[in-house]
Formats: sequence, structure tokens, C-alpha cells
Amino acid sequence: MIKIKLTKPDEVKIIESETGLSLLDILRKRDYEIYAPCGGKGTCGKCKVRIRNEGDVLACRYYPSHDIEVILPGKQEAQILIHQTQYLEDLPFKANKSANLTSEPFGAAIDIGTTTVVIYFLNLNNGQIETISYFLNPQSIYGSDIISRINYCQEQKNGLAELQRLIIEAVNERIDNFKEYKNIDSQNIEKIVIAGNTTMLHIFLGVDPVPIAIAPFKPAFTDKQVRKGHITGLKINNHADIITLPCISAFVGADIVAGLAALKVPQKNYLFIDIGTNGEIALVRDNKIFTAATAAGPAFEGANISYGMGAVTGAISSFSDPLNYYVIGNTEPEGVCGSGITDIVAYMLKNEIIDETGFLKEPFIIYPPDKIIVNQRDIREIQLAKSAIYSGIKILIKIAGLSFKDIEALYLAGGFGNYINIDSAIQIGLLPFELKEKIYPVGNSACIGALQYLKSDEFEAKINDVIKKSVYIELSDIGEFTDEFAMNMNFSRNLF
Ligand code: FES
Repeated sequence: MIKIKLTKPDEVKIIESETGLSLLDILRKRDYEIYAPCGGKGTCGKCKVRIRNEGDVLACRYYPSHDIEVILPGKQEAQILIHQTQYLEDLPFKANKSANLTSEPFGAAIDIGTTTVVIYFLNLNNGQIETISYFLNPQSIYGSDIISRINYCQEQKNGLAELQRLIIEAVNERIDNFKEYKNIDSQNIEKIVIAGNTTMLHIFLGVDPVPIAIAPFKPAFTDKQVRKGHITGLKINNHADIITLPCISAFVGADIVAGLAALKVPQKNYLFIDIGTNGEIALVRDNKIFTAATAAGPAFEGANISYGMGAVTGAISSFSDPLNYYVIGNTEPEGVCGSGITDIVAYMLKNEIIDETGFLKEPFIIYPPDKIIVNQRDIREIQLAKSAIYSGIKILIKIAGLSFKDIEALYLAGGFGNYINIDSAIQIGLLPFELKEKIYPVGNSACIGALQYLKSDEFEAKINDVIKKSVYIELSDIGEFTDEFAMNMNFSRNLF
């Protein structure tokens, strides 16, 4: 056994560990949050920690064999979107009261995102929102995208149970806080409605997600699931219904379904896009919804980028020039998140630091002396991600028999969609120039959809309507997609 001293700004702790484990595994076992987008494969370089007298090491590659002191960063605060509901439904409270199990019933609407989780607690007597909780998905220590999480379930004997435990415990912590705040007990939590991508819902329910990632990409379920309170380990009424909303396919999940159902918009032909780790796209045309997912990768979540990081304290989240940028938490910059890198690439294009092909002569220094840089590989990652999304949009428009001029609006869901500068997104070719005046961020539409489901018995019809109208287009089956993808890798300077 060796001793490991863990020093954080607000805590010092000494733990014991056997040898033969990576430092990342040792820390994960004790629920320390270490940013590890590649899931511990040694490829992302993000899990750096400082060992006193030894310097910086990658936690996933470092196997302590003697007593050490590890300097850990403080708890990161996330930039999580909760207040933006302008384009979303706010239905009158209309829940079936006869179903109440206690005289003081409460419910929770949850959006389990790959990166962030948001919970609305609702009073089921009067429909009032009591409180909103949000936090980073603790499963991120096993990788930032769904494929890393699925790999973990596949490769580790207890992988699924471990990922499920992390999310259940994190939700229970917020439920406990809410119970204390309202002075109620578990019996009063009577209904839970959950939106999220297909993988997150599988893991939450403890259902093997591995088939999602293997051809023919058939998840164990896509339809609505209902469980009773005691099944999942949530600290709620044993007879409470836990409902996960329906998904469309392996990669177009209940987050998109709930978001589409929650949109309150006048247009007939519109796009609805969630640029997360997975680039989900829906094109609504009259009575049909064409959906697709692009393998955009997690570049816009900060992973795969040399100095990339999530939208948390220390991330440059917007950038005008090297003297004018905003850092989340107003601290010294430690890296760049998705909205920041979008601005930076637009700046580099505009100032001819990169050319149309993305060629970069030398690394671009964002924060001197050379602490934070953008290199050629980063530019390629952004090109791959932006081309995947843009090409997906073009193909869906074509399949729907429309052209850009027929599209009346483009609604951007999720945190990234809300925080990116739309001009920068257009300039780098992530979003279509043709829709410049018609792009609207809609906020966390997935959670608002789950909330409407909890609030009104009538919302289920809207969810079912979305499912009925939706068709899933597998982009990799469309030959033209590959051509589009190759064509859209370049940047266009005409947009400045
Ligand atoms: S390099 Fe260690 S988690 Fe990616």
C-alpha cells in the first residue's frame, strides 16, 4: 500500500492505494472529477495533474509506486444553460391529480446530457417550478462522448453499473438537497420524467448500451420506458413513475424528441439542431420530420483540441482578438471551450492566419507567452466537425426536397447552440450563410420538453406526434454525404 496526499484549494486528504493502478483510476474510484475526455486511453492529454517534486503527469498514464502528493484543481463551475425559453412551450398545469400518492406531491423533469445534467423540481399540486439544479455529468471521468462511455461499458466488467451508479448518486444528491429545502421526504417525490440521448437513457436504466455503437446500431429500446421508483435506486416514492421519453434511433434521442415537441414556433419548414458531441439534426417539413446524426465528434465540447476544455471556469468562451476575450468565471484562462474555439478560428480566417484549406504556418498563440495555442491538428478537428454538421444539414434539406430558401428558421438547441457567436459559426462554415438571419438559439429545449410532460398530461400527444412523423436518415448510407463532407472541409473567405 502507498499513501497519496490529495491537495485541493479547499481540502487536503490522504488516501491509501494498492500499486498497479493508474492515478486516474485511483481518483475515479474516490469520485474525484478529473477531466478525461478520451476515457483514459492516453490520447487526449487532458488528464494532467501535478505531482509535487515530479511535475505534471497524465493521470491515466501515471502508475504511483511510492508515496506522492497530488495537486488537484478546485471544483469546476459549469456554464449550464437554464434561462432561455422564448421559443418553447409553457403549458398550463394540467396533471392528473388523482394519481397523486401523497398530499404534498413533487416531481422532477431531468435532462441527462452527455456533458451536463439539468433538473427542474415541480410542485405537482399547483404546477410551480420550485427549484432548478444543474451539474456536470459525473460520468465524464470515463470520457466526454457517448462512444467512450459505451466503450467503458463494453471493456469493464462492472462498467455499466459504475456509470449508472455515478448518475443515480448525482441525481440523488440533488433530490436530497431539494427534500431538505422543502422539508419533505422521499415519499413526496412522485414522478420523474427524463429526456436525454439514447445512450444516457440506457445507462440511467442500467440497460446495456453496447448495441448502440455496433452495426446495425439497434438500441435495446427507443420507445418510452416506465419504471417504478424502487427499481433505479433513486431516493423517491417506491410507487413513483420514472418515465424516460421515447427516442427516434440509436443516435437521435429523447432530447431531440422532447425539444421538437416543446418548440412553439410558427414556421412550417425549419431545422432544429443540437450541436453536442453528436450533432443531431432534424428538418421539419409540413407533416414529416427528417432526422440524422453526424459523427461530428466532441471538438465543439472542447475535447480533441489541444487546449480545449468544457464550458467551465477558466475556459475562454468568446474571443474577439488576443486582447479581447471572455473567460468563464473571470479567471486566468486555462483553455478554450467550443464557443471560444469557434470565435478563434473565425478570427484566424479573417486575419489570414489560416487559409481556405485550413493550412496554418505556425501555432497561433492565444494567451502569451505560449501557454494556450491553436495548432494545425486543432484546425483539422474543427474542419471535420463543422463539415459533418454542415453536410448533414445540406443532405437533409435535399432529401426533404427543399432548398435553403425554403427553410424559414434554424433553431439551435443546447448550451453550445446558445453560447456560440452565430456570425463566427457561419464564418467557419458550421452553419449555413443562407440562413444567417433566421437562426435562433432556443436553450435547453430537452429539459423544457420533459418539464411540459411532467406538467401537462396533454404533452404526451405532442411527443407521440413527433415520433409518428419522424424518419431517421443514416447519413453514412447516403453516397452523396461523403462527397459533401469532403467538399465542405474547406473554409470560405467570401463570408467576411
Ligand atoms: S490522456 Fe488521460 S484521459 Fe485522455
